[in-house]
Amino acid sequence: MARDRRDTYYWRAKDEGYRSRAAYKLFQINEKHEVIKEGDTIVDLGAAPGGWLEVAKKISGGKIVGVDLRRIKEIEGVETIKGDITSDETIKKIIEMVGEGGADVVICDAAPNLSGNWSLDHARSIDLTTSALECAKKILKPKGHFIVKVFQGDMFKEYMDKVRESFTFTRAFSPKASRQESAEIYVIGKKLLTAPLKIDDKFDVTIKKIGSKGNGIAFVEDFVVFMQDEVKKGENVRIKIVDVKPEFAFAIVIGRYDEELKENNEE
Ligand SMILES: C[S@@+](CC[C@H](N)C(=O)[O-])C[C@H]1O[C@@H](n2cnc3c(N)ncnc32)[C@H](O)[C@@H]1O
Repeated sequence: MARDRRDTYYWRAKDEGYRSRAAYKLFQINEKHEVIKEGDTIVDLGAAPGGWLEVAKKISGGKIVGVDLRRIKEIEGVETIKGDITSDETIKKIIEMVGEGGADVVICDAAPNLSGNWSLDHARSIDLTTSALECAKKILKPKGHFIVKVFQGDMFKEYMDKVRESFTFTRAFSPKASRQESAEIYVIGKKLLTAPLKIDDKFDVTIKKIGSKGNGIAFVEDFVVFMQDEVKKGENVRIKIVDVKPEFAFAIVIGRYDEELKENNEE
């Protein structure tokens, strides 16, 4: 059989001893986006036959846990769970295996059984990736990273927005090793947000101090929020969150209670 261009990665996987050609997708995603680093604890959702597990082990050398509906043949230094990633029972098992500290990275190349009906397959993929995102949020450390395969379609943007709500940086990426005709794309979420607030949340706060750059600073459950509008120390304001970073957020002022109070007293 000719080694045609389409099968380059198939043959490379055979030559280099990886269990799947998918292994090169993870290498390429990591080369571009630097998600996995040495020593990371990694959970792979939908991991059989185990190409990604081999790559994760090679790059990280840390604790690696693989989960799949199918049994994963043993890989040295990798722990495996036979289970459904959409079930709470499996998530409990993963947490027990990973430990209280949580995982540094959750990767998910899971794919539903394809029917050939485009919109049905897209909907099934979105269901599965939504479960993977929920699972990742439960098992990741604060500021942990997430890689997930999605089949593109009309619900893709909505899914990206969901990932964007939970991570500081979100990108979509097609590795060269994905087949040209494939509808798959990988979504990368970096730095899981664990802030007690999210974009568009509204709070009543008191400006506690003015920062070195002149921005007013308030706190929501000890989380620092910088005001984008001019405020005075001690002012009571209603704010709307407009951007969230891992350690602080930005807000605009949508109401000034002291002025309302003053106006009411003057009437
Ligand atoms: C494309 S393969 C993964 C290939 C793997 N990344 C590799 O490099 O070897 C997709 C896997 O997702 C698994 N899968 C699909 N739905 C799942 C679910 N609900 N729970 C666990 N695994 C699932 C399938 O059994 C299949 O083995």
